[in-house]
Amino acid sequence: MQGPSASEGTGQGFRKAILINEHFVVYGVPAIAVPVFFPVEVQVTVRRGAGLRVLVHPATGEEPWHAEDTDRFEAIRRVMKAMGLSETQQMTQIQCVDDLSGWSGLGSSAGFCVALARALCKALERSCTDEEVNRIAYEGEKVFAANPSGIDNTVATYGQPLWFERGRTPAWEWIRVGSPLWIVIGNSEMPSRTRNEVEKVARFREARPGLFSDQLQEATKLGRDVRLALESGDGAGLGVLMDRGHAMLQRVGVSNERLDEMVSFCRLQGALGAKLTGGGGGGCMLALVGDAPSGEAMVSGLEQLGYPAICVQLAPSGDPGTSRVPEAV
Ligand code: MEV
Repeated sequence: MQGPSASEGTGQGFRKAILINEHFVVYGVPAIAVPVFFPVEVQVTVRRGAGLRVLVHPATGEEPWHAEDTDRFEAIRRVMKAMGLSETQQMTQIQCVDDLSGWSGLGSSAGFCVALARALCKALERSCTDEEVNRIAYEGEKVFAANPSGIDNTVATYGQPLWFERGRTPAWEWIRVGSPLWIVIGNSEMPSRTRNEVEKVARFREARPGLFSDQLQEATKLGRDVRLALESGDGAGLGVLMDRGHAMLQRVGVSNERLDEMVSFCRLQGALGAKLTGGGGGGCMLALVGDAPSGEAMVSGLEQLGYPAICVQLAPSGDPGTSRVPEAV
């Protein structure tokens, strides 16, 4: 396939978990997110010719498939446009190493846009700062999230725990996790579209503006309290606040039975707190635990209930301000 004029590049972007205030962040409320260290990887080949081909290799090892006419294809177009690239002037072949659908809610789409921007920069021998990558990825993210706050692409780019406030300049700052904590991520295995859930919350806001405005105030206070708990390493306090965060998301209609079942199960199993994470309507939930063995026991329990699960350390180490951007291969 590869001719003499072809150039190649590989890039990665982080997945993420939102600890507090997904959805409310779209309306300017501060939210906190942490990177989850199984990145999305994209390979790009650019050669003479014209057109765009997208081949997805599912992480499960199933047959690769062509992703034309999908959201992903449109996101690629937007990313290329933001980089000043035209699909009619060069042949661009994009290979994704997983199909992104397996763990929805963990920012795979933003990780994909970041990985793509990095891979294109590499293939075209352009030097792109993280700031540029983040800006470009945001354009692609608009396809998946309708009115994205920007939190997902920012964590996907920098790979640091961060406090994010849409509309503020700069919109984010790094935060430090005060003591080691572990999160169990349980997968409802219900695919969901962030865009649909964001629109659902927008309809709630339209229908009940007074109640929604109270929710935003409560969420703002919750965000500040979560930050204090996280920075001071107060796992018990953080867990209680996460439970409150879940109740708020239930109120605006983005939880469902499977997410609620996992949340209740983990609380009964001794989690410090639990909540859905990301867009909801399916996707994943987070349970906070104080150590890895408790996390592993909870993973087994969730798996017995039929929910795939993993346990990860919450943002291990990482100095605020030090980028943990993965090296493009
Ligand atoms: C999705 O991971 C997070 C949302 O708050 C959307 C956004 O912030 O763009 C639901």
